[in-house]
Amino acid sequence: MLEVRDLRARYGKVEVLQGVSLDVGDGEIVGLLGRNGVGKTTTLKSIMGLVPASSGHAAFNGVDLTGLAAHKVPRQGVGYVPQGRGIFPNLTVEENLFLGLPRDPSPEQRALAYDRFPRLKERLSQKGGTLSGGDQQQVAIARCLVMQPKLIILDEPTEGIMPILVKEIRAEIKKINGTGVSILLVEQNLVTAFKICSRIYLMEKGTIVHESSAADLKTQPDVVHRYLGMAA
Ligand SMILES: Nc1ncnc2c1ncn2[C@@H]1O[C@H](COP(=O)(O)OP(=O)(O)OP(=O)(O)O)[C@@H](O)[C@H]1O
Ligand SMILES: [Mg+2]
Repeated sequence: MLEVRDLRARYGKVEVLQGVSLDVGDGEIVGLLGRNGVGKTTTLKSIMGLVPASSGHAAFNGVDLTGLAAHKVPRQGVGYVPQGRGIFPNLTVEENLFLGLPRDPSPEQRALAYDRFPRLKERLSQKGGTLSGGDQQQVAIARCLVMQPKLIILDEPTEGIMPILVKEIRAEIKKINGTGVSILLVEQNLVTAFKICSRIYLMEKGTIVHESSAADLKTQPDVVHRYLGMAA
């Protein structure tokens, strides 16, 4: 459903993406892993139209996203939870949840957010900036669900979150995937990636250097060490 082909992007003179190709199929959870600064976030931003591609393309169900204005990409069914979560600290939880909608949320749209994350319902008038990191991540994911995406792109959802909540977020991602939503997950947490991804891409210096099933990657500690600098 998502097809990224030879995507290139630059910041000024520096070519940060040097031809990235990857796919996410229907119902898959796909991981994109790599060291700090290799271009993971830029890849996601380029897919979302937030960083212009200098060449190559990203297509979703046959629609070329590369040519679309950034605000039109979510309407194609692609949700994005940015690194750092993108919560507006001075807006309430309720305002943060529904700011992607052109009008007040319907009861159905409210249910999409609250059914998955009942805790949020008790905090609707609380300011986003006063939530814990884990609760902010829930708001960011729930905000995506309200738009009824077919694919959700998550940039390091467990970054800076207490270990006990990491497990919870992992479980939520699995549950969302269980409802038929595909997931593209950028992760530094190898345990999370191995637990929930079916396939994993490894990235280095702006290109994909390795692709395999999560199960295969587990049996290749040398590859994991070479590209991620950690033990499998
Ligand atoms: N807005 C920007 N302007 C200039 N350079 C940038 C900008 N954003 C990122 N970069 C640079 O582009 C490269 C890739 O950054 P990117 O954020 O995509 O990496 P990343 O793999 O997501 O890293 P991390 O794991 O730290 O989140 C880095 O060298 C970074 O310093
Ligand atoms: Mg990043």
